[in-house]
This record gives sequence, C-alpha cells and structure tokens, in this order.
Amino acid sequence: MRIETRFAWIIGFCFCFGVSVAGYISYKLESRQAHDEIKLKANMLLEAALAVRAYTGNDVAPVLQTLQDNDFHAAQVPSFAAQNTMARLAQKFPDYKYRESSLNPTNLNDRASDWEVGLLREFQADAKLLELDGEIGSGKNQRFYLARPIRMSSSACMQCHSTAAAAPVAMVAKYGPVNGFGWKMGDVVGLQLMEVPTAPAREKAFNSVLVTIGSLTCVFVLSAAVFLLLLRRHVTDPLEMLTRVAHAASLDERGGSASLAMVGGQFGDLQQAIVRLRTSVDRAMRLFERGPDPARALTPPAAPSGKADTTDSDPV
Ligand code: HEC
Repeated sequence: MRIETRFAWIIGFCFCFGVSVAGYISYKLESRQAHDEIKLKANMLLEAALAVRAYTGNDVAPVLQTLQDNDFHAAQVPSFAAQNTMARLAQKFPDYKYRESSLNPTNLNDRASDWEVGLLREFQADAKLLELDGEIGSGKNQRFYLARPIRMSSSACMQCHSTAAAAPVAMVAKYGPVNGFGWKMGDVVGLQLMEVPTAPAREKAFNSVLVTIGSLTCVFVLSAAVFLLLLRRHVTDPLEMLTRVAHAASLDERGGSASLAMVGGQFGDLQQAIVRLRTSVDRAMRLFERGPDPARALTPPAAPSGKADTTDSDPV
C-alpha cells in the first residue's frame, strides 16, 4: 500500500472518530439548549396565563360584579379568561396548547383526561410538588408539557366553588348545580397544563449539529487533500526516484544510476551520495579487475611513518 493511501486511511479514521465525538458533544449541547429553550417558552406562557388569571380576578371581576343585570359574565372568571386568551393565541400558534383541567370541573370541557388525572393525582399526593414536566407524543407530534397544580388558596374562589347555594344564581343557571362545587381550601382542584411543540427547536438543534459537522468535514477534506498532495510531491515521489537510483546502483549497470533524473530538495543530496558511492565502487572494481600494478609492486612497502600510501588510491 502506498504511503499516501496509508496516511489517508489513518487520518480519515482519526477524522471520523474525532467528528463522531465532536458531533455527539455538539448534539448533546444543542439538545440541552433546545430543551431549555422549550422549557423557558412553556414557563413564560404558563406565567402569562397566570397573569391573565390574576388580572381577571383582581381587576375585571370587581368591575363586572357591580353590574346588576342578573346575568353571569364568564369574563369575570379567572379560569375562563386565561383559557380564552390562550385559545386566541393558539389560533396563531396552533401547536401551543393551554388547558386548565379538573376532576370535578364546572365546565365539562375541562374534565381531566386519563393522562391528566395521573398528573393531578401526583400533585394531590405530594403537597410540595410544584411542577411536573416531560414529553408526550412522538415524531413531529412530540410536545413538551409543563404542568402546575391549581390550589384553592383564596377565599374569593369559594363563592363560586364551595356549594351551589353559595354560588351566584346566574352562574348556577348557566353551569348547573352539580359540577365544580365541594372544593375545599388548600385542595389541589385542578391543573394548568401548557404544551409546546418540540419539533422546531429539535430541528434547529439538528441543523446546527449538521452545520458543525459539515464545516469540520470541509476543513478536513481540504487540509487532507493538500497534505497528501504535498506528501506525494515532496516525499513519496522523490523517495520512489531514490529507490530507482539505489536499485540501478545496486544492479550491475554501470552508469545506470547517473542516467536517472536528479531529485530536488533534501533528497537530492542523498541521490548524489548514492551516485558517488556507485562511482567509487566502480573505480574500486576497475582497479581490482586490472590486477596489482607492477610498478607499484617494486616500491618499498609502507613508509616508516606508518601512513598508508594514498597517492593512487581512489575514493571508495
Ligand atoms: C365568579 C365565580 C368564580 C370565581 C370567583 C372563581 N371561579 Fe373558577 N370557575 C368558575 C366558572 C364559571 C368556571 C368555568 C369556566 C368555563 O366556562 O370555562 C370556572 C372554572 C375553574 C377551573 C377550571 C375547571 C372547571 O371547573 O371548569 C378552575 C381550576 C377554577 N375555576 C379554579 C378557580 C380558582 C382557584 C379560583 C380562585 C382564584 C376560582 N376558580 C374563582 C367560576 C368561578
């Protein structure tokens, strides 16, 4: 396998590993951010409903109660005002749903569903439990819900929810004497439930993870391509040429290595060294083939200084 191919595999593998880890971390962070964002929205909408409730009870009801027209104006009822306001909002944002439900509702439309009964029971069982949240549905239909208990905390509520006899006559005429009575102070009588769609925030989070992975991949592919090209041009190609030079030099082709093109850069020195080595070996071989020089045979052996006679020796 070529060096570039091996390098490409190794850095490709490292990249896949790195991107998987980065993608996972980014997905977790984005999901948490999306969750926080959804929860904040649900919280704000629930608080808005509470604000409408308070405004109706404190400011609207006293004014409407001064009217002596023997009619029951549901606009003075906090629950009615909150649910109606949020229903108008839902006309613009149909996936956002608000509900106030009860086990014993005045308006039968507010009867708690099986699932809501479960939440109500949890609030009734634990007086310290102030909020429940979670997710329901799946896929595009998945919603985040935030539920809070409605407690009988004010004696003002009792005039309409204690007994039918104590309630305004017009109200009993409209809603009947059976439902929505018998509530006691401190009881969890209902719950506020806000549902917010999760799909848009999740989609946003997913897209931002894709953008992160996409940009990392672009940077990687570009850098890896440049790196591999440079590796080929400046390392593997010269190395291949050197290998050919070394091959030619090692085989018995006199002058073969010199006929190859010269490699540039740092590897040029190595090529020159190989060519020189080959030339030296050639010379040594020629000397060896020529046999001992008779003239030299007459010369006295080594000089007394002990130095070797190098006058005719070729570099080897
Ligand atoms: C003037 C009478 C009146 C007062 C005061 C009043 N309510 Fe109600 N309440 C009603 C009526 C009527 C409804 C049904 C409204 C509708 O048509 O949705 C209702 C609905 C509700 C509901 C929704 C479930 C259901 O019964 O339909 C809850 C919960 C509730 N009231 C709690 C309270 C609390 C808590 C207070 C005190 C802060 C309070 N109410 C004060 C008359 C009243």
